[in-house]
Amino acid sequence: MERWKGKTALVTGASAGIGYAIADALARHGMKVIGCARNIATIHELAKSHNNGPGHVEAVQCDVSKPDQITAMFAHIAAKYGHVDVLINNAGLVQLDPLISGRREKWREMLEVNVLGLSVCARETLQLMQKDGVTEGDIINVNRGYSPLRV
Ligand SMILES: NC(=O)c1ccc[n+]([C@@H]2O[C@H](COP(=O)([O-])OP(=O)(O)OC[C@H]3O[C@@H](n4cnc5c(N)ncnc54)[C@H](OP(=O)(O)O)[C@@H]3O)[C@@H](O)[C@H]2O)c1
Repeated sequence: MERWKGKTALVTGASAGIGYAIADALARHGMKVIGCARNIATIHELAKSHNNGPGHVEAVQCDVSKPDQITAMFAHIAAKYGHVDVLINNAGLVQLDPLISGRREKWREMLEVNVLGLSVCARETLQLMQKDGVTEGDIINVNRGYSPLRV
């Protein structure tokens, strides 16, 4: 982790579960972490717990199924941090709506978060990396994609 000290990470879905734990761990290893979710109270609390370093956490409200909110988040990141070195594409949900009886609306919700949200966050991250000539970065997809294709 030494090489990531002082570098910037974006963790989507950082308000709970795996994303929260990753955001916490990256900040403990000295990274500047932007944690996003729709509900950011827990990320604010996490940010406070890192007030004394070595890294820090910033809470940004963003629903990754809403392109305008992703655009606003990346505009903020570009202005404040320049770019993202590590993207943890974690925001996601699972709808137990199988192919034989599933509801279209639930599949759409899953696609918008797990596939489109993930892809747009990756695109925006890559564009900022390219702008700043970043040659070493990571995009890690934690979310489980799209899974109604079970009968
Ligand atoms: N836990 C497992 O066994 C497991 C297994 C395989 C894959 N995964 C994947 O790993 C990821 C994390 O799992 P988890 O168990 O930690 O899930 P979790 O506890 O349900 O947390 C999901 C996180 O995603 C955020 N989120 C959901 N919809 C969002 C949206 N539209 N915009 C922004 N953030 C959103 C939630 O925050 P808000 O509700 O505040 O927005 C929350 O922070 C998920 O993508 C999941 O599919 C988990």
